[in-house]
Amino acid sequence: MGDPESWRREYLSTPGQLPPEIDTTVPSVARIYDYALGGKNNFQVDRDTVAALSAAFPGSVPLAVDNRAFLRRGVRYLVGEAGVKQIIDFGSGLPTAGNVHEIAHEIDPSVRVVYVDIDPIVLAHARALLADNDTTTVIQADAGEPESILEHPETRRFIDFDQPYAVLLSAILHHLPDERDPVGVARYIKNRMPPGSYLLVTNFLDDDDPRAKMMEEQMTSRVGTGRFRTWAEQREFFDGLEMVEPGLVYANDWRPDGDTDVNGAWTTFTAGGIGRKPLLTADSNSSSR
Ligand SMILES: C[S@@+](CC[C@H](N)C(=O)[O-])C[C@H]1O[C@@H](n2cnc3c(N)ncnc32)[C@H](O)[C@@H]1O
Repeated sequence: MGDPESWRREYLSTPGQLPPEIDTTVPSVARIYDYALGGKNNFQVDRDTVAALSAAFPGSVPLAVDNRAFLRRGVRYLVGEAGVKQIIDFGSGLPTAGNVHEIAHEIDPSVRVVYVDIDPIVLAHARALLADNDTTTVIQADAGEPESILEHPETRRFIDFDQPYAVLLSAILHHLPDERDPVGVARYIKNRMPPGSYLLVTNFLDDDDPRAKMMEEQMTSRVGTGRFRTWAEQREFFDGLEMVEPGLVYANDWRPDGDTDVNGAWTTFTAGGIGRKPLLTADSNSSSR
């Protein structure tokens, strides 16, 4: 695969060579998010979907941009301030500018990163990007089945489960509908973590604005998933954790930097936070789900 950029150009310009599992006739969450962030790993159907979503809700693209910016600030905190050495990124998305491993390695090149995504296009691109990278890997798996991720041989090869690690659930739990028990997914992850580990979560937020329900319907009908959850629902993901300051807040209010649009028109549609598993808890070893 060699140079990822030339591989990517060839891959996207010769549709006949696309792996058969990549369906270019229906939009994919990974590809529409890539397009919203200004990436090139997407198809016409994805661009049309972003246009339709933006027509219904002009905040569609800003939501993606704000979310990605939160993720970057969160990873900088985790590696730079909390000293995290291992990261598992559930629903990692397509490689775009400022990937998690790049942000982490700017601070500490030894940090190990396991990317996880359900979409085969992510696996294909990440493999090309990471061909010569021995601290970062990618697996294809379903975030709704966290045991399959934590028990995956590649995850076990990269992550020392006796040492604290961070799990990133950035813009992924809102793609798990209620019947897939996203709270149970987060609980399973927290129960398995050693004390001192971290959980980063961002989600679409229903902050009592009727546009949230409207967008939930748009997302669900156009891409299949996209739940806007209330503050109370979001807090459940962090149950049992100590919140890192400033807690669970609008994503743009979480340690904003000079580029963060804290007063932006769409700020109230994304929530984010980071929690830490306490060093001493009565039920640290419980594994009920
Ligand atoms: C909106 S993107 C978020 C990417 C990245 N985490 C970020 O915050 O910038 C959501 C990603 O989750 C992936 N995804 C959706 N459902 C999934 C599932 N059940 N299991 C794993 N990945 C999933 C999509 O393919 C997509 O790449």
